Amino acid sequence: MKPPIRGNHPTIVAGFLALLFLGTTALLAQTGPDLIIADFESPTYGDWRTTGEAFGPGPARGTLPGQMVVSGFKGERLVNSFYNGDGTTGTLTSPPFKIERKFIGFLIGGGKNAERTCMNLLIAGRIVRTATGPNDKPGGSEELAPEFWDVSEFAGQAAVIQIVDRATGGWGHINVDHIVQTDRKPPGWLANAQRDFKIEKRYLNLPIKNGANKRKVTTMVDGRAQVKNDIELADGEPEWWAFMDVSEWRGQTVTLQVDKLPEDSKALSAVEQSDTIKGGENLYRETLRPQFHFSSRRGWLNDPNGLSFYDGEYHLFYQHNPYGWGWGNMHWGHAVSRDLVHWRELGDVLAPDDFGPMFSGSAVVDWHNTSGLGKDGRPPLVLIYTAAGDPTVQCIASSTDGRHFTKYPGNPVLKQITGGNRDPKVIWHEPTRHWVMVLYVALPGNQHTVHFFTSPNLRQWTLASIFEGGKDRNNFLYECPDFFELPVDGDRARMKWVLIGANDEHAIGSFDGTTFTAEATKLPGQRGRTFYAAQTFSDEPQGRRIQIGWLRADSPGMPFNQCMSIPRELRLVSTADGPRLASLPVKELESLRTKSHRVAPPPLQSESTSPIPDIKAELIELRAEFEPGDAEITFNLRGARISYHGRHQELDVNGVRVSAPLLGNRQRIIVYSDRTTLEAFASDGLVGVPVAFVTSADDFSLGLNSRDPVTFRSLEVYELKSAWAE
Ligand code: FRU
Repeated sequence: MKPPIRGNHPTIVAGFLALLFLGTTALLAQTGPDLIIADFESPTYGDWRTTGEAFGPGPARGTLPGQMVVSGFKGERLVNSFYNGDGTTGTLTSPPFKIERKFIGFLIGGGKNAERTCMNLLIAGRIVRTATGPNDKPGGSEELAPEFWDVSEFAGQAAVIQIVDRATGGWGHINVDHIVQTDRKPPGWLANAQRDFKIEKRYLNLPIKNGANKRKVTTMVDGRAQVKNDIELADGEPEWWAFMDVSEWRGQTVTLQVDKLPEDSKALSAVEQSDTIKGGENLYRETLRPQFHFSSRRGWLNDPNGLSFYDGEYHLFYQHNPYGWGWGNMHWGHAVSRDLVHWRELGDVLAPDDFGPMFSGSAVVDWHNTSGLGKDGRPPLVLIYTAAGDPTVQCIASSTDGRHFTKYPGNPVLKQITGGNRDPKVIWHEPTRHWVMVLYVALPGNQHTVHFFTSPNLRQWTLASIFEGGKDRNNFLYECPDFFELPVDGDRARMKWVLIGANDEHAIGSFDGTTFTAEATKLPGQRGRTFYAAQTFSDEPQGRRIQIGWLRADSPGMPFNQCMSIPRELRLVSTADGPRLASLPVKELESLRTKSHRVAPPPLQSESTSPIPDIKAELIELRAEFEPGDAEITFNLRGARISYHGRHQELDVNGVRVSAPLLGNRQRIIVYSDRTTLEAFASDGLVGVPVAFVTSADDFSLGLNSRDPVTFRSLEVYELKSAWAE
């Protein structure tokens, strides 16, 4: 049965009677095959004539320089009069053709200006039909939409199409594609199409096609809008299915409203109410599903948020687009773990609201209930996040069961400072007994700063100081600050503070409860560009400083994208240059080991790679300790190459080359290899190099080579199991 879809047709003005009339004549008259007037797929306009400059030398290959992304055209090219910007003008005119079908259908976008940005149909030099793009104010969209003219009354007459750009200001251009004569009424547009669901199950499964036009989808409950998302709905065959958890509205009517859809779109009728995630039979077994790196069941993830330990569980929240393979619709996803290795994804806890999408932030356990958000003696877990609307503000939400989160009714707790203020990291500062918020604030001129605020109760915040990057103001603290204290070499009498930015570069110094003073700045963190926006856990029960970062690693073709790093324990260790941050995989990861191989290194000193025999594993942890001398030794791990150059003291992880000091005359290397990433550690954690690397399913190669002698102290290979298996 076809589900009832409601909506209205803005393009159909003639009303119901006219439709009835058209329908009847269509039945009576003969229909012929479509005649393409122009598909604009060639590099030139052929026998169409241009005047002026606006239409350029020929059809454009999509978006032109300086233009918002143009979508909705057919094939590779279209007419786009944004050539050299909005300032140019001109016309594009077809050769005469005979009207031989009832309709002329086309795709049109750009400016909405009845005479200045339009497409006209001329008969005997007179304009008999006209159409424009949809945009007459700033913002808007460069998406082309299908439209049509009924031309049956001109049957047999000679006509000309003229595309006009006489406008020079904002939206002073017109986009057109795929003009056809047809006897079949082309599909129109359905505005605010709606479908109701009486909720009896947990999920609505939504059909998604990556790259499809983003539709504004409003979820309404008993007629009231709850949340709006931009979703690449599949009008036809979906690539994958996203799910919307509607369990909280059981028994109520949920309406999905889509701003516009082609009249023949199957997007809304395809939505399925179900207790299971469509495609979920294969969950965690998908070909590129990271097996011991956290990824979301569906959709995109980026920054880890709100890392905390509460009520016996580690909590991992994260920037989540539940409905797309790419970034957008920022929600906070949520997963829990008892051991930092096996995660259970629970579902989103913060959805976009009137304050905007839910950007990054942190979490704390409010042990003394300073916020008053605790209940029955239970301290609340408080999330502090950015709502990135206009204005962009800081808000809080809380929970006393670690499952259900309530946004604080007095939000926001911190007003906009500049448009670029975000990613609050909050900590409890015991000596002064107040909360400290470290907030990224971009000042005019693209000066990156962090602002320090203090609060007695997480609800009122006072500016305490501004850190601009240290003495040399080297401007490195871009986004997502983290801030914590660590002992040097484990000696609690020698504590230092570490302030980290999103690219993991950091400063080390001191902090008095209001002001951070850097002793060393712009120190490199995890090398390469894969590791980003890391955060450390609040309230870690063993007092460790454990960090997880977002690994910018694609999962092509999957219904999910990106993953988190393995958790690392951070330490400050003395070096000749002063205390430096070292990070090593947490010991809990050892629980993934299934088979251990103490390998006798194969004979080296050869040009070719010697295989390590008898190991055929997909997921691998490799640990090697060796004295390289001047040699360069290369490990091959399922097609990835990790080499260490003794003389240069350099590590190369599949092309990412960084300096990695020897310790005495030894090097110790640890590598974790998963399906989409490789994480390497060297120099006892002073160097970490996570990289994106998609393994091929049938490459189990494992080997070593070096032309010069290398003395091995140990070589261990562990086969790992999937963290999702149990
Ligand atoms: C960093 C970031 C943050 C922001 C979030 C939005 O990756 O840009 O600054 O809060 O992502 O998803």
